[in-house]
Amino acid sequence: MDQIRIRGGRPLSGTIPISGAKNAALALMPAALLTDEPLTLRNLPRLADIDTFGHLLNQHGASTHTQGSRPEDFGRVMTVRAGRITSTTAPYDIVRKMRASILVLGPLLAREGRATVSQPGGCAIGNRPIDLHLRGLQALGAEVELASGYVRATAPRGGLVGGRVVFPQVSVGATENVLMAAVLARGETLIENAAREPEIVDLARCLVAMGAQIEGIGTERLLVSGQERLHGATYAVMPDRIEAGSYACAVGIAGGEVLLAGARRDIMEATIAALEAANVSVLEERGGLRVRRRNGLAATDATTAPYPGFPTDMQAQLMALMCVAEGASVLTETIFENRYMHVPELARMGADITVSGRSALVRGVPELTAAPVMATDLRASMSLVIAGLAARGETVVRRVYHLDRGYERLEEKLQAVGADIERVADD
Ligand code: UD1
Repeated sequence: MDQIRIRGGRPLSGTIPISGAKNAALALMPAALLTDEPLTLRNLPRLADIDTFGHLLNQHGASTHTQGSRPEDFGRVMTVRAGRITSTTAPYDIVRKMRASILVLGPLLAREGRATVSQPGGCAIGNRPIDLHLRGLQALGAEVELASGYVRATAPRGGLVGGRVVFPQVSVGATENVLMAAVLARGETLIENAAREPEIVDLARCLVAMGAQIEGIGTERLLVSGQERLHGATYAVMPDRIEAGSYACAVGIAGGEVLLAGARRDIMEATIAALEAANVSVLEERGGLRVRRRNGLAATDATTAPYPGFPTDMQAQLMALMCVAEGASVLTETIFENRYMHVPELARMGADITVSGRSALVRGVPELTAAPVMATDLRASMSLVIAGLAARGETVVRRVYHLDRGYERLEEKLQAVGADIERVADD
């Protein structure tokens, strides 16, 4: 298994290209199951999760065809064609690798009238139930049964029927699943308290390009008029706001000035506000966002919340930055109950962090020192890379497969802006 080695202390300078958004791509790929015509997705990131999702789609009978990508290019184009669905079951072996597999439930149910998906179970950042997905689909007439670790959903004869879905809590995945089901349901569906994440806007726009009728895109109230069928489309995946935010934290901790090519300010306001408060300047210019550390890093507080709030997927990376800021910061996690696995690892690098319930008090220290570290999820792993960029000595981050799930060629992108980082085989 590979590991990442970083020798800290080098400022970053140059350009980092921002890839297509993983979380948007993982919602756009299952949308291909809604039509028998091809859906071509441009700007898909090259990530392990995207490959896994491709295998899942193949397993349902869809063909996936990747075009025109040379190994040196970032991103790729994939055409998914689900001419005929040959299996409506998403098996345990794939779902356990990737929770986002649950997103085939809505499309399969809408198109085939039934779907059986392995229950995803817990994961490193918490319990993560799927009750909201199921309640939403039930509101469209689905019958849901849980047996032997699988969710079996069945539509009424004649297919799903539009309904009113009021989410008691904001859920990105549940909103996506219900939206994809509603576009092929008979009649109108009103989704209230929908998640407003930019990735949902991306999905909704792609569905519209496929012939869906959706009003209220980007708001908490989505009104869908179901269509008899959708058609194929070509759609470019939005830039990854979490990847961009992560590299902005990297520049913040290492110093220097970097252009995040392709990054969009309008979908990163809360992250940028936190960075600006920390003394990291983020300026929009043609082609992306220019990030520069002003003088010393200043402590700043942040509380995670559904979009447009501060993203839970940025909490660990901001914490790495706060470890060396002047003063004390309080970071509060309100989305997932167990998302501080990076804390003991950062502490091994000399960070001063006290977790109390959902909040972490981070007292800035003058410097971090390198150590062998590892984390159990993607963003926690990235926070260790960020810490490593500023730490004295050589940091070794193990379990690199977490990073490969969400950061396209991380070490290449960081090397290109002057970081001393390499991927080596585990000894
Ligand atoms: C998505 C993102 C993930 C991000 C999260 C929150 C993808 C592939 N993943 O995950 O990176 O951290 O949004 O922005 O897009 N919940 C329930 N019942 C449900 C569903 C969710 O209680 O049926 C809870 C969850 O446990 C969590 C909260 O709702 O506490 C938000 O989760 P949700 O927005 O659904 O996250 P995901 O879609 O799984």
